[in-house]
Amino acid sequence: MEEWAEKKVEHGKKKIWIGELSRELPASTQFDGFDISDAQYPPASWYGPNTTLSKLDIFKPLPEELVGKYDIVHLRFFMTVAKDSNIGLVLSNLEKMLSGHLQWVERDWLSKFPKTACETDDAHTQMTAFLHKWFNEADHFASASLNVLAHQHETPLPVYRKPYNEDNLIGTKAVGEKITDPGQKEWFQGMLRQCVEEVARGWWVDFEIVIVVGRKAMVGE
Ligand SMILES: C[S@@+](CC[C@H](N)C(=O)[O-])C[C@H]1O[C@@H](n2cnc3c(N)ncnc32)[C@H](O)[C@@H]1O
Repeated sequence: MEEWAEKKVEHGKKKIWIGELSRELPASTQFDGFDISDAQYPPASWYGPNTTLSKLDIFKPLPEELVGKYDIVHLRFFMTVAKDSNIGLVLSNLEKMLSGHLQWVERDWLSKFPKTACETDDAHTQMTAFLHKWFNEADHFASASLNVLAHQHETPLPVYRKPYNEDNLIGTKAVGEKITDPGQKEWFQGMLRQCVEEVARGWWVDFEIVIVVGRKAMVGE
């Protein structure tokens, strides 16, 4: 099990979990992928065999047919969506889907940045402090009746610093478009422009990948 968990993270490479595993595990293994939007995933034909992709809002009551259906549930990069106030709901639904293990993988942007920033700091530091906070999934696993089996921090190989940074800026731009306060929006967009200029001058971000694996508690545990 640990081998399986580590294999799919491999120093934080941005692999598509279902796409890789469905080619490696026996053809009898079924893979179901979910997202709130079907605009987010590649065509099903690009995946390996035995794969379905469906829409699911993880904040809504879980459809009955998914209850207890999965040996393994894998969630990655949901920190921008989940908050301390609703992570309990996310974990409760994921735990309902399970008969076995949950693996949750996140980037901890703050692992290599100061937790707060001031206006003399570079744009990346200011944006990171503004956008990101860290919640510790492992702390929340216990309240969802999940026993934590592994809690690892991995630093991606240096070659991934630049692509991850660019990926982060695409997400950051999308977040900025949702800001309603005009002054804050203007500040945000100015910072983003500076970040893009910094990238052109060779800027990159360093960060850790955090992997938590939990097992559904058995009756009496
Ligand atoms: C940062 S992306 C991560 C995508 C992918 N898991 C990965 O590792 O590359 C977050 C994803 O969560 C999806 N999402 C947002 N709200 C959701 C919800 N309520 N239920 C399910 N998925 C949601 C978004 O559509 C988006 O594809």
